[in-house]
Amino acid sequence: MTAVVSLRPFAPAEQSVEEASVWDDWGVRDAPKLADIGRMVVEEDAVAVGSVSWHSVYYGPNLGSRAYNIGIGLAESARGRGIGTVAQRMLAEHLFATTSVLRIEAGTDVENLAEQRSLEKAGFTREGVLRSAQFRADGWHDMVAYSLLRSDMS
Ligand SMILES: CC(C)(COP(=O)(O)OP(=O)(O)OC[C@H]1O[C@@H](n2cnc3c(N)ncnc32)[C@H](O)[C@@H]1OP(=O)(O)O)[C@@H](O)C(=O)NCCC(=O)NCCS
Repeated sequence: MTAVVSLRPFAPAEQSVEEASVWDDWGVRDAPKLADIGRMVVEEDAVAVGSVSWHSVYYGPNLGSRAYNIGIGLAESARGRGIGTVAQRMLAEHLFATTSVLRIEAGTDVENLAEQRSLEKAGFTREGVLRSAQFRADGWHDMVAYSLLRSDMS
């Protein structure tokens, strides 16, 4: 039988565990956190298997120039079965339905072929490589940029 993938809000206790692990990974535990950020739990057949997140990025100083950048992480046991594709598509649908942004984007390491393929299957378009765009605990990473526009949804 095909698994049912769904998204739900974090419960308060889950949120604090998630905060600790996510921010440790960025190597910037004491840095100021972004205010405009959100997360949801990814479930497979009602069992939590990972999370998706989003935060604002601005291409100009006005609200019309705002896009959402999304991210995802699944437990190892949940990978490679299409859940990432469905969850990222569902998150994009959720953000288009609940906000006015026209652009949703995602960046992933140039070596992360599974995420690149997953984004493409979710309907995202590859736009190019952003050099030394993301800093994590192990240093700077070149990122492949992907986007999904409201007008791409049909
Ligand atoms: C990246 C991730 C979200 C993808 O979700 P997923 O459910 O595993 O992905 P899917 O099963 O939907 O699709 C993966 C695709 O990549 C392909 N793939 C996997 N490993 C690959 C590799 N090394 N090279 C090329 N393609 C690969 C799979 O074959 C599949 O494509 P297909 O359906 O055409 O065969 C998930 O693997 C994950 O959480 N990884 C760890 C965290 C991470 O990297 N997050 C993204 C950070 S930007």
